[in-house]
Amino acid sequence: MIRDKHIPIMTKEIQSFIDDKNNLFILDCTFGGGGHSKKFLDKGHYVTAIDQDNNSKVIAKNLKKKFTNLSFYRTNFKDLDLLELKIKKFDFILLDLGFSSNQLDDNNIGLSFKNNSNLNMNYLDSNLNAYKIINFYNKEELQRVFYLYGEINQAEKLAKYIINQRSIKTINTNYELIEILRDSGVNFRSKKIHFATQAFQALRIESNNELENLKMFLKKVHNFLEHNAYLAIISFHSLEDRVVKNFFRDNRVKKNKIFQNNKDWGFENLTKKPITASKAEIINNNRSRSAKLRVGRFIN
Ligand SMILES: C[S@@+](CC[C@H](N)C(=O)[O-])C[C@H]1O[C@@H](n2cnc3c(N)ncnc32)[C@H](O)[C@@H]1O
Repeated sequence: MIRDKHIPIMTKEIQSFIDDKNNLFILDCTFGGGGHSKKFLDKGHYVTAIDQDNNSKVIAKNLKKKFTNLSFYRTNFKDLDLLELKIKKFDFILLDLGFSSNQLDDNNIGLSFKNNSNLNMNYLDSNLNAYKIINFYNKEELQRVFYLYGEINQAEKLAKYIINQRSIKTINTNYELIEILRDSGVNFRSKKIHFATQAFQALRIESNNELENLKMFLKKVHNFLEHNAYLAIISFHSLEDRVVKNFFRDNRVKKNKIFQNNKDWGFENLTKKPITASKAEIINNNRSRSAKLRVGRFIN
């Protein structure tokens, strides 16, 4: 039995863009526990949902018993164009990036540094994981991951220390990795967060290819949007948000259908500043504190 513990984020804010509309075709590319999809289905919209997660497939199957307007595809959203979708163009596309609370609590995935688990961090069922990165990447590769995805200034020092430690003993678990991070002598950036946060973030981004998936998806998404459709993206870290912000900037409508990208399509940016969760939502759901929502209207 799958227990769904995920609380959907900024549902009112998302809904506010389509409050006055009925019977929309919606593509939820990160179905997760189905929280957002359920809100759309409750309003009578037609939802096509995607997620790479096996548990999401089970949750969708159960939800389908109540809502026949739901179709689910288990795949990576970067491969959206490979799907044989019944509906070809959508009025609203949602990406709620990252991992769900269900995945965070799953000790087989091991995303949390609060619980011990085997080194993994892959929540998308692909080949790479933190064990392979930590035990087999060479110094340059490790340095790249920690510097680019963890924004750790002393990435080289950390890479060297890990390579030294793994030559003594294979690094198998989250707790072993945390010990190594602690003993590495690396000055982690923030005093406010757990010192392992940046390294864990880096390993998670690399294991799941998070930024590349997003970039590949953004290259194709215009093919799936109706004129005037909305593209709404919730991100949870600054690296991801930067990709989304630059995407809307580089593909904006300048005026009178003149497009920044010199193509025949673009976006009106509806969120000059990203929307963030209300204080009340943050109190109720701590995860929402780092969420940023950006929305564009598709013009072609
Ligand atoms: C934050 S959760 C979404 C929660 C969902 N909106 C809800 O209300 O329950 C993110 C989900 O996106 C999925 N995901 C992340 N990257 C993905 C990708 N590249 N392809 C497919 N699914 C992905 C994860 O498996 C996870 O279930």
